[in-house]
Amino acid sequence: MAESPLTIVRTVAEMRRHVADWHRAGQRVALVPTMGALHEGHLSLVRAGQARAQRVIATIFVNPTQFGPSEDFTAYPRGEGADAAKLAQVGADLLFAPGVAEMYPKGFATTIHVAGLTDGLCAPFRPGHFDGVATVVSKLLSQAQADIALFGEKDYQQLQVIKRMARDLDLPVEIVGVPTVRDADGVALSSRNAYLSAEERRIVPALPRLLREIAARLARNEAAPRDEVARGRAVLLNAGFTSVDYVDVTDAESLKPLDRIEGPARVLAAAWLGKTRLIDNMPVGV
Ligand code: PAJ
Repeated sequence: MAESPLTIVRTVAEMRRHVADWHRAGQRVALVPTMGALHEGHLSLVRAGQARAQRVIATIFVNPTQFGPSEDFTAYPRGEGADAAKLAQVGADLLFAPGVAEMYPKGFATTIHVAGLTDGLCAPFRPGHFDGVATVVSKLLSQAQADIALFGEKDYQQLQVIKRMARDLDLPVEIVGVPTVRDADGVALSSRNAYLSAEERRIVPALPRLLREIAARLARNEAAPRDEVARGRAVLLNAGFTSVDYVDVTDAESLKPLDRIEGPARVLAAAWLGKTRLIDNMPVGV
């Protein structure tokens, strides 16, 4: 199959020119923000965008403000050539790949903080992370002026933070969540899986297995969230995870921890394998 031409732009002005042309032609535009190292999970967002809009813009920007000082900003996998080829193959229309100076010009001084949703789960373990995400995503949304923007359920807390921010700031864009793409053994695709040794990779399926099992037990009312959370930690450590940041059962939208399942809920976890931090989550069907 012939690859579609993929245009790469590095400035907001160039991106806006394309979007203005498309809007003048009556076309809907979808935005897929990423940090690159693209895999099938990212490409599923592009395809979901294509199903809802005539044009899809992918962005690649490894955002320094969402990494803590001891996190993997420098080591984060980068490879624009391979990423651009994948985007061309799937038929994305435009790649916006700005440099740091385009996104954070000298004197940059504004931070977006979404309260409440950033109290629990990953937030205490990654101070400042969600402020960095909310700030860069609000910029990307405002820069692109797309009609819809797609984000993965893989980063479930991030998705809820972005939905809240868009609602609170009246951003004229529809935020769409897309289900997690997984390997055959249930492991969620992640750019960070590249850090895992073969031995570590063999341990990871225990994480989605645990979450699926907790979700099923809770849906059948066979267990209390608190007991499952305590048991879940032990299961992950026994499976070989080095440490567990959290296993939690929360309301699906507010992300408040639950003692009882009464409506849409989510089971979420974050755990370490050596130097690699992995997160995953599943819906609790009720
Ligand atoms: P990144 O980790 O590159 O992820 C980009 C998008 O792909 C996010 O919306 C994420 O949830 C989604 N994604 C990742 N793995 C997925 C999978 N296995 N299935 C479905 N979707 C998946 O998340 C970020 O970048 C950044 O925080 C960003 C939003 C770009 C802001 O810098």
